[in-house]
Amino acid sequence: MDESMTISPADLSQGAACGVASNTAGGAAPGVIRKPRLTEVVALKAMLDAAAAAGQVLPRALPELYENVRDFYVYVDDQGLGGCVALHIDMIDLAEVRSLVVREDLRGRGIGERLVAEVIEEARRMEIARVYALTRVPVFFERSGFRMVDKTELPYKVFKDCSRCRLFPGCDEIAMVCDLPPPDAAKREEPGG
Ligand SMILES: CC(C)(COP(=O)(O)OP(=O)(O)OC[C@H]1O[C@@H](n2cnc3c(N)ncnc32)[C@H](O)[C@@H]1OP(=O)(O)O)[C@@H](O)C(=O)NCCC(=O)NCCS
Repeated sequence: MDESMTISPADLSQGAACGVASNTAGGAAPGVIRKPRLTEVVALKAMLDAAAAAGQVLPRALPELYENVRDFYVYVDDQGLGGCVALHIDMIDLAEVRSLVVREDLRGRGIGERLVAEVIEEARRMEIARVYALTRVPVFFERSGFRMVDKTELPYKVFKDCSRCRLFPGCDEIAMVCDLPPPDAAKREEPGG
């Protein structure tokens, strides 16, 4: 890891560590992360459907995917689509990381971390104060710098989506957040800043 990736305890408390990808345990994955092409949306849906059938993510209808395609990043290698994630903006200071899936045969090679790092980077660019996920894999998000919170810390989400869900209020998903430093603080973290 190069020096600029080193995280101090002070960084951690400010959320600067969120989305720092480091896991290449299963061998560095050679693919790239980029925005999806419209011609890839059907394959994107198939990947989400497979994870949704296993109860891991919410299913997304094709029209919804086209409408929100700009929320997404995909991992692509010479085998095609290998992973996806979306950053969905809720309001002025809040966005959700959702639809995170890595193809089963590619898991454990750091692709999930890289996908989350990509959306966190976008959230930083957009100066979004808080990014959250509702998840059954809190350990994964902890590894990406998120911390666990009570769902009452996300009243907008609970009001907008959760309260209409058939699992509400007994849902077993855990709320994880990553609070991003305000832009001025981020500038101070830059070398020579
Ligand atoms: C969760 C998921 C996206 C992780 O992708 P991945 O590419 O395998 O993850 P990474 O290789 O980047 O792993 C990063 C770290 O998280 C840990 N991790 C990954 N998946 C995990 C899981 N299911 N449970 C616990 N820890 C997990 C890894 O061990 C690794 O930590 P390490 O560096 O200490 O070994 C992938 O398992 C997946 O697609 N799961 C099904 C869909 C899902 O549950 N999505 C999340 C919905 S919120």
